[in-house]
Amino acid sequence: MSGVSQGTIEEIKSRIDLVDLISSYGIQVKRAGTSNVACCPFHHEKTPSFHINADKGFYHCFGCGENGDVIKFVQKHEGLDFMDAIKKLASQCGIQIEESDTKESSLRKRMYALHAGLSQFFNRCLLQSEEAFKARSYIKSRKLSDEIVQKFAIGYVPINSEAILTWAKAKGFTPKELEESGILLPPKRIGDGYYNRFGGRLIFTINDRTGRPIAFSARILDNNKNVAKYVNSPETAIFKKSSVLFALDKAAMSITKSPQRQAIICEGQIDVIRCHASGFTQAVASQGTAFTQGHVNLLKRSCDSVVLVFDADNAGRKAAIKTGGLFLAAGIPVRVATLPGGEDPDSLLSGKGPEAFQKCLDEAETIVEFQVRVMLEAEKNPKSIDAVSKVSRAVIELLMQCDVSVVRAKLLADAARLLGVPEQALQDDFAKAQENAKYAIQRNKIVKEEEADKELVEEDGASKVVWKDAKKALPPSSMEMELCKLLAENEGNKTLAEMLTRFAPSEIFSHEFTKRFVSLWCSSVLNQDDSFNTFPMQCSEEEMNWFNVIIQSESISFSELTPERILQDLLRRLWSSVLRNRQNMLPAESNEENDKLRLTYSVLARRLERGAWSVASKLMSLDALKI
Ligand code: CTP
Ligand code: MN
Repeated sequence: MSGVSQGTIEEIKSRIDLVDLISSYGIQVKRAGTSNVACCPFHHEKTPSFHINADKGFYHCFGCGENGDVIKFVQKHEGLDFMDAIKKLASQCGIQIEESDTKESSLRKRMYALHAGLSQFFNRCLLQSEEAFKARSYIKSRKLSDEIVQKFAIGYVPINSEAILTWAKAKGFTPKELEESGILLPPKRIGDGYYNRFGGRLIFTINDRTGRPIAFSARILDNNKNVAKYVNSPETAIFKKSSVLFALDKAAMSITKSPQRQAIICEGQIDVIRCHASGFTQAVASQGTAFTQGHVNLLKRSCDSVVLVFDADNAGRKAAIKTGGLFLAAGIPVRVATLPGGEDPDSLLSGKGPEAFQKCLDEAETIVEFQVRVMLEAEKNPKSIDAVSKVSRAVIELLMQCDVSVVRAKLLADAARLLGVPEQALQDDFAKAQENAKYAIQRNKIVKEEEADKELVEEDGASKVVWKDAKKALPPSSMEMELCKLLAENEGNKTLAEMLTRFAPSEIFSHEFTKRFVSLWCSSVLNQDDSFNTFPMQCSEEEMNWFNVIIQSESISFSELTPERILQDLLRRLWSSVLRNRQNMLPAESNEENDKLRLTYSVLARRLERGAWSVASKLMSLDALKI
């Protein structure tokens, strides 16, 4: 439980003066009559409309409506959650927060203390130990100032694990605890010493978002290709990679203070450190892993927009698009800054200075502009219809993740402009893709429900699928049921009847019921008679049940998908499933004829599954069935 008593909360509120607190963030507060005013830290303004009532411990901005008490202010300003804000304020005014002393929480407490101690110890080793001279010159060569070394608690890990064990003993930590933190690994054989995971490396301390050391990342000192450049702490009771962002403790406040509440996302630690050293204090990075939804959620609280500054290589570009999708899904607009070839933020900042980096940030493209440009650049013939349709599909796929309509509309417009297609056309395709996705979800549901009622049995050495309730006759497949539903919903549609006459010979239906349904439906449309009305009369009781299921099931028509389009899709799937069945029914023995047929069926089925309608329809002939 993360509970804190109401009494403690009141105590904190009474001890912290809201005006002092707000001033401590460098915000100028002026007295105005009985009230205090300031320029609102939560929106951009020149005339103060942010009122602070110190007596009541309450603020209200008449410009943007933001309001709250000391706790809310710290939460909002630093991007912390409620408990973290409480903890921070409590320690500021010297109030102890009693966390329940379960076994787990005491283990975590020990781990926090261990990491805090080690971080200082490694830092001292870097500055003082003789062995660390190489590390000190490396620090110089990478132009990391003393101030940055301290700010980021950079250190050096002694090669000999005895040094760490001795330190731990003096501080009251056990070897077991060093193992649990992943600093040391147990000896492989009796007589061996502990393996020192980070020994001889430069070490960066990784903090949680409140600034407590929780893990380490360590770099080799010379670029020896045979060992990993970076080694990271394993996951522990206090370190979960997917919920930690490097330097977020230092960046959160700059992010919330920046006009657009904007975060800069880099790929590497050194990049982030260099950004902070050069004044770009909103920089963070994921920690030895790709960006995940967890990382996005962490940032969501403090930021409204992000710029990705990834390496200018292929992997970096892919990562940017993937990460961009995650932010879009969270409703956060993403831009991508492109650095000059071969540079990373660190090399650019140290080589060309902050102005060059700022220029890249200013010129950052929206995620879609970036995606379209990068994808078109990779095309031999970027103006071709193939290239344009490929890229537009990718854009649509990316934007399907975004459900903030304004952001999506803006990005679709960007893409249309860059692809040289009318915006409306892209919007239409987007709407269709969305309907398709809904349709696919519903289809999966039907298939799953059906699967649940079937089981696999062995018969004569071969396995076969039967209905669980053996007394029930097997109903038509879900695809055939869907087809019947489509027809029932579109009585009188001549195009559908013509398509069926051409592409759906009765051989492709596995079920008598479907054969009859389709043939009666078609003849009643094409001959304009009421033969279909006689269908129920020709049904057995069992079949009548299926008929009712079809009539009463949820509609499969969508506004954006025409019935013709749905039928195309169904026919392609029906045909490929028929071909796959034929393939499976071929005798197992291998001879020239069987093998040839097997290959033909499989190739045809695959082409049907992939092909567009114009290609697919050519494959749907009795000839394809080789009968
Ligand atoms: N990384 C890692 N393990 C590796 C290589 C990289 O965990 N074996 C992570 C580190 O967090 C690193 C980031 O990926 O910071 C980016 O790697 P890379 O671009 O190779 O390194 P740089 O950040 O450029 O580091 P440096 O400038 O020190 O070479
Ligand atoms: Mn680098």
